[in-house]
Amino acid sequence: MDASKLLAGSRVVPVVVLANADIAVPLAEALLEGGLGVIEVTLRTDDALQGIEKIAKSVPEMIVGAGSLRRPEQFADIAAAGARFAVSPGSSLRLHTAANDHKMPFIPGAATPSEMIALFEHGYQLQKFFPAELAGGRPFLKAVGAPLPEVSFMPTGGITPDNAMDYLKMDNVACIGGSWITPAKLQTSGDLDAIRQIAVGAASLMV
Ligand code: 3PG
Repeated sequence: MDASKLLAGSRVVPVVVLANADIAVPLAEALLEGGLGVIEVTLRTDDALQGIEKIAKSVPEMIVGAGSLRRPEQFADIAAAGARFAVSPGSSLRLHTAANDHKMPFIPGAATPSEMIALFEHGYQLQKFFPAELAGGRPFLKAVGAPLPEVSFMPTGGITPDNAMDYLKMDNVACIGGSWITPAKLQTSGDLDAIRQIAVGAASLMV
């Protein structure tokens, strides 16, 4: 299932490598207070699934999704935890099938025109472009925009406050994602005020 509708209007998505499930709810609340209504919790830490579950239960206004999906079985796990969308750095037939089986809005990843066309054939109008800066950045996205006008992208990987606005100004960029909004250091120190401030800055990029 394409995730364009679910994420429409949410142009900056914090990509969270969640250190500890205990911080998930206050972290989601800080992001929401800062003006960000979507969060992607990556399945890269032991606490990620539990964190998704806590956010889904306790912060219903936040649209919580799961990132870094790479195994079809993970769709059952994130659906049970209450995730509302899924993101992957890439794609495979088995991932598409699992996403469809669970009716889970899915943003698969692509980094070449052939991968992008293959995803478009599967019905994905919104695709993750990863790793954005290493795969060619904005010049690459501009170049593929001409022959692939129907596809919109969520670039992630190397997005920073310095280049975020330039990505957001592009016609074929629906939204951007990045881990700069929830740095590990601030999660560990529990500095939610600092995270809220970064979120305010990130939300101000949405024009
Ligand atoms: C992702 O999974 O989207 C990336 O790891 C985020 O990249 P960043 O850490 O460079 O923001």
